[in-house]
Amino acid sequence: TKKILLFCDPGIDDSLAIIYTLLDPDLELVGLVTSYGNVTEDQATSNAYYLLDLAGQKNIPIIPGAAQPVQQEKVTYYPDIHGAEGIGPIQPPADMKYQTYPFDTIGILIEKYQKDLIIVDTGRSTSLAIAFILFDEQIKQVGAFYIMGGAFFVPGNVTPLAEANFYGDPTSSNYICKYANNLTITPLNVTEFALLTMETVEYVTNTATNPFTILLKPIFEYYYKAYQKLVPGIKGAPIHDLLTIMIINNPAIAEYIYYDVSVIDGTVEGKGLSYIDIRPGSQKGKTRIAVKLDYDGFINEFVKVMLA
Ligand code: BDR
Ligand code: CA
Repeated sequence: TKKILLFCDPGIDDSLAIIYTLLDPDLELVGLVTSYGNVTEDQATSNAYYLLDLAGQKNIPIIPGAAQPVQQEKVTYYPDIHGAEGIGPIQPPADMKYQTYPFDTIGILIEKYQKDLIIVDTGRSTSLAIAFILFDEQIKQVGAFYIMGGAFFVPGNVTPLAEANFYGDPTSSNYICKYANNLTITPLNVTEFALLTMETVEYVTNTATNPFTILLKPIFEYYYKAYQKLVPGIKGAPIHDLLTIMIINNPAIAEYIYYDVSVIDGTVEGKGLSYIDIRPGSQKGKTRIAVKLDYDGFINEFVKVMLA
């Protein structure tokens, strides 16, 4: 089984990614780093705990990460898409008491698992960039990195040019794209097609016997309705973050290109835009970028793990 350290901002699609990781017998979640993004860092942390509690997996360390980007700009949250508390209509119990682990735990987990560790980032890039700076030697031992972010020559989702994770802290995203080895990126080019449908969620809710069946439908329905407003008639809602985890063990559900990735930094109009050099004669690069999805493969794999 692959050991997964997940940086996230749950968030509905992050929550689905956490649920998928917990249910997939071939993945082992060894830690969650929770940061600002879809919701505040505090809210992301309690949502993560709530999911681990539901799963009876309170032993998995939760490591609170960044509360804001390195540029210290005012953060925009997304209650319309993810709900006021980040998991649609569900509110984790207000009186939950839980233990969190210090940021140093990331270094300890890297030393423990080394090349068997896979770091996945489905949130803004700040916390992972800080981990690269703090644990600069240890982090070279990590087996692989998987990041949800960017949009390559396709529309963004928070600006015409930029995707939310790379827009949120482009300095950090650019840093990670430069320094992470064995990096795979799932940009909007592929995640926008990872559309989960109400029919599939209803089927899974009625068939599965896992502890998440009570919330799968309400949280997804909230997210689906938000996307219906954005894109009337869309057949489902894109579960970006879950796809990012899914391709770790199912690389064949996507097609890839290999380039060096850059992210536009600063407070310019193109902030957060991700790009690659595709001019004729340009060099291939080190980063594997997912660009095309096998849709049936994606849905079949989702159902398989939810019913596992
Ligand atoms: C990404 O932004 C977040 O709001 C989602 O959870 C996902 O990680 C999609 O652009
Ligand atoms: Ca996310």
